[in-house]
Amino acid sequence: EKGGYEHFMLKEIHEQPAVIKDTFRGRLLSDKGLIKMAGIEDNLQKFTNAKRIIVVACGTSWHAGLVGEYMIEEFARIPVEVEYASEFRYRNPIINEDDVVIAISQSGETADTLAAIKLAKEKGAFVFGVCNVVGSSISRETHAGAYTHAGPEIGVASTKAFTTQITVLALIALRLAEAKGTMSKSEYLRNLLELELIPEKVEEALKEDANIIKIAEIYKDSTNCLYLGRGFNYPVALEGALKLKEISYIHAEGYPAAEMKHGPIALIDEQMPVIVIAPNQNHYDKVVSNIQEIKARSGKIIAVVSKGDTQVKALADHIIEMPESTEALTSIIATIPLQLLSYHIAVMRECNVDQPRNLAKSVTVE
Ligand code: F6R
Repeated sequence: EKGGYEHFMLKEIHEQPAVIKDTFRGRLLSDKGLIKMAGIEDNLQKFTNAKRIIVVACGTSWHAGLVGEYMIEEFARIPVEVEYASEFRYRNPIINEDDVVIAISQSGETADTLAAIKLAKEKGAFVFGVCNVVGSSISRETHAGAYTHAGPEIGVASTKAFTTQITVLALIALRLAEAKGTMSKSEYLRNLLELELIPEKVEEALKEDANIIKIAEIYKDSTNCLYLGRGFNYPVALEGALKLKEISYIHAEGYPAAEMKHGPIALIDEQMPVIVIAPNQNHYDKVVSNIQEIKARSGKIIAVVSKGDTQVKALADHIIEMPESTEALTSIIATIPLQLLSYHIAVMRECNVDQPRNLAKSVTVE
């Protein structure tokens, strides 16, 4: 059932081109310039009239929520807050009837997320679920929703659930942008076309595997690791760090790249690998200067760059190339090399990749 792969995690990483396609199939009609999702269409007014959207989730799903925040705010200009479900439920949050709550959960069984949904419903908010497991508690407890079509995720470390969650959130953000008229028609259409190309670009990103294995060999005995990204890639950095720590037990932290100089830069020395997500986009020059700051302190740079990059290549110790997309959608592609890096390091350290110690696939207790 591992389809010839050594672990479920590796199989699930490689399934991403197919399941991302499954997730937008029938919903993304780029030739017609349309996005159709029943759960959104049936409740469109609730979304377009929302004063704000609150995303509740845990772990990797919370990271997808952060990407969703950036997308919905950028495309549809609706204010978004992203909260850990556990904090939200216990801090007497302000929720109004004109708030929309989006709950994101792969399993659909996470106790804190479920409790956050119940609380939001009691306060009169409209609650929309983004779940992977069909018929799960969260999918039943929400007013409406959209499934990710990632298929069963067996590896405890979430991979394909994350990229399909971002896919669903991109569809939602684009549909709301169209409904609100907050994005130019050409920009909207470009995003639809780019979304359609994501599966093949993810496929291409997967081809860096041999290069990533070599990098993993060099850094497998590290005790600490930093992940940096800006904009849409900041949540990708958080997710990269979570993946590494949960399956390889190497301490890792993700930061917005600019936060470096507010503390973490003190940690940099020749023992510290820093993984920097540096596509040739909006924040490129800023990320280049962050890389220079790290090199000046003898840190080791592993940079995830756009194909053909030269500037970062000249500075970094190692580069991993990937195809680009729009800034927002590049977050999906940039996730792939970080998953592979964590996977290979964990295998080299002889860790139980599919069932890391102390972790459960479904966290049904708080
Ligand atoms: C990380 C991971 C966890 C889950 C979190 C939420 O790889 O698997 O952090 O993302 O427990 O789970 P769901 O999405 O099922 O609510």
